[in-house]
Amino acid sequence: MASPLIEIRNLSVVFDTPAGTLHAVNDLSYSVMPGETLGIVGESGSGKSVHVMAMLGLLSSPAARVVSGEVLFRGHDLLRLPERALRDIRGRDIGMVFQDPMSSLNPVLTIGRQIREVLQRHTGMNRPQASARAAELLELVGIPDPAGRLSHYPHEFSGGMRQRVMIAIGLACNPALLIADEATTALDVTMQAQVIDLIRDIRQRLGTTVIWITHDMGVVAELADTIQVMYAGRIMERGPISPVFHDPRSAYTWGLLRCMPGGAPGNGTQRLYQIPGSPPNMVHPPPGDPFAPRNRFATARCHRQVPPLRQVPGGAPGHMVAAWYDLPEILATHPELH
Ligand SMILES: Nc1ncnc2c1ncn2[C@@H]1O[C@H](COP(=O)(O)OP(=O)(O)OP(=O)(O)O)[C@@H](O)[C@H]1O
Ligand SMILES: [Mg+2]
Repeated sequence: MASPLIEIRNLSVVFDTPAGTLHAVNDLSYSVMPGETLGIVGESGSGKSVHVMAMLGLLSSPAARVVSGEVLFRGHDLLRLPERALRDIRGRDIGMVFQDPMSSLNPVLTIGRQIREVLQRHTGMNRPQASARAAELLELVGIPDPAGRLSHYPHEFSGGMRQRVMIAIGLACNPALLIADEATTALDVTMQAQVIDLIRDIRQRLGTTVIWITHDMGVVAELADTIQVMYAGRIMERGPISPVFHDPRSAYTWGLLRCMPGGAPGNGTQRLYQIPGSPPNMVHPPPGDPFAPRNRFATARCHRQVPPLRQVPGGAPGHMVAAWYDLPEILATHPELH
């Protein structure tokens, strides 16, 4: 059995806020295998961005504190590497694409220069080599006239094209791992579909491992091998796409699937459903299952004790859930929910 490319162990992150300590990421553990695409979903505030920022040493202290955990990447614990070594890994071994390319790109520098800088910093290429590679990258992400476009500024590109440029920068040094956080959220549906095709194609050609963070269950279904559903800085459910979509075991996943236009795949023409209530205040997280206050099927134990993430009994290998209740049993006794 191959070993994971990246393994997060017991990661906890807090923010010191005027209202008190905010528990953003809570004892999070998971790993990603080489070549795997992991899709991470969850409502706003579930800890998706904070945990990857923590993994990469990008949280600003002192407000944010990593209180525990290890992030093992190729045998190194990223949380304990000196800043310089971590900076070398970021951008070279781990590429990143974040939302809002307008604020990630420097408006006064040409696209060519911004790509070249990444290449020259990490690979020791000289300027002509870096220019040639930059054009190659723009071509890879489907930008027409790549060599000519190098001398253009960010505002000369459309939103979708800027997002492609960001992906080109993320892929510049052929990273083993690409982490994208809401990389297609700002794009219209057509652009989004194009970027997803692009990532699929790149993954196939280069064997890149991908962590894809999004609000959109549909994007995960199309792109990922594994889905991980997060809530209140924890994993509620995780597993291969098909069993999680067709046989969800967490009431939270089930709620998210019901929110998809048309319902979960195969559910026909269900109307759009909203999970009632809102995520917990993480300064005062609920003592038990964090979703219990919004879960009409929660038991007394759910309100009292945090359920561990464990393999679904009799479920697909790798299908894991954190729940004290048995969702299929509940659904079987509530036909009005179908
Ligand atoms: N700079 C900050 N100071 C205080 N709290 C923060 C800060 N950044 C994030 N948080 C809190 O940390 C928790 C996790 O936030 P995070 O940004 O990871 O959510 P997310 O899942 O990425 O949400 P979204 O889908 O909106 O991007 C939330 O409760 C959020 O309010
Ligand atoms: Mg986020």
